Amino acid sequence: MKANPPSTPTVSVPARGANGPSGGFPLARILGIESSCDETAAAVVENGRALLSNVVASQIDIHIQYGGVFPEVASRQHIKTIYAIVEQALHQAHMRLEDVDAIAVTRGPGLAGSLVVGINMAKGLGVATGLPVIGVNHLEGHIYSAWVYNAEKAIPVEPQFPLLALLVSGGHSELNLMKDHLQYQRLGGTLDDAAGEAFDKVARLLGLPYPGGPSIQKAAIQGDSKAFSFPRARLEGSWDFSFSGLKTAVLRVVRKYEETGTPLPVNDLAASFQAAVVDVLLAKTLRAAHTFKAREILVAGGVSANQSLRDAFLSQSEFPVHIPHLSLCTDNAAMIGAAGYYRLAYGQMDGLDFDAMPTWPLS
Ligand SMILES: Nc1ncnc2c1ncn2[C@@H]1O[C@H](COP(=O)(O)OP(=O)(O)OP(=O)(O)O)[C@@H](O)[C@H]1O
Ligand SMILES: [Mg+2]
Repeated sequence: MKANPPSTPTVSVPARGANGPSGGFPLARILGIESSCDETAAAVVENGRALLSNVVASQIDIHIQYGGVFPEVASRQHIKTIYAIVEQALHQAHMRLEDVDAIAVTRGPGLAGSLVVGINMAKGLGVATGLPVIGVNHLEGHIYSAWVYNAEKAIPVEPQFPLLALLVSGGHSELNLMKDHLQYQRLGGTLDDAAGEAFDKVARLLGLPYPGGPSIQKAAIQGDSKAFSFPRARLEGSWDFSFSGLKTAVLRVVRKYEETGTPLPVNDLAASFQAAVVDVLLAKTLRAAHTFKAREILVAGGVSANQSLRDAFLSQSEFPVHIPHLSLCTDNAAMIGAAGYYRLAYGQMDGLDFDAMPTWPLS
């Protein structure tokens, strides 16, 4: 499904006004829709970067009782809320549907029953209005979240290629070299748990609530990151990651405390675990950026919301680092609108007969 961009962008969306700031593509307003997991989201993004509205309805409160996302419950909840979420996104952007130039929707990867809800909404709007509809890869969306800025604030510098992109989310830990828009050379990924999954599983071991990432971050603030010396799986000679050894090391410590009946030093364990994850992600990304002569680094996905990870990259990288605004790290539709814009600008157009792709690697 991935179309490699031609060297000269062809613009398939109706031109609107002057050229955008991102290199000469005409301005276009994209309505993004996202429903791949447990967030129902809609947003309006102009020229792939300027955020005009962003609405996210999280289902965390519903799934917290299951300790994770319950797929059937998620899709039913999407059905209940999606119409209102899209209306709210248009309202916040002071627009009607006819003011939008195209609709971008997450096509995959994700939960099949959840993806279908967003896709059907987008197709329905496409049929009703004649607007082009484009199916976007959720992982590409996470990467393009780093291009998005608040339209009411100053325009931040745009990421420059070649770019080393680290995507760390609930289901993925991927290192990609991007030589241009929409081009991904996959260098490596996780061999077992994704970084976000490791946060979620370790939080459960420590008795902290779902989702684990924010819980561990909060506990870690009160903890000593040097209290436990957890393993850093460097996997020398490879660009892959592995977090299962680290998770097992935490489990062993937890068992020991349980056996002796001593209260768990939750904060110290959280801080030590978090430090190990951050060390590994930072070291490998910096090494890859040097090896592949990247100009800049991009970090995206839910785990990029982690303050310790953000601080480490921003303070220790000699390359300029792009990290999405905190509100755009976890799932949202602004990132889908942004990625959809670049897809359209490079000539990709989907009909109305595309299906959900629950499994869909980025490259
Ligand atoms: N502050 C944080 N620190 C660490 N991890 C975090 C933080 N905030 C969120 N996360 C983690 O990010 C993950 C959610 O991110 P995201 O929404 O991108 O994942 P997903 O959409 O479920 O998976 P994918 O994008 O791979 O399909 C969860 O695993 C969560 O624990
Ligand atoms: Mg995601």
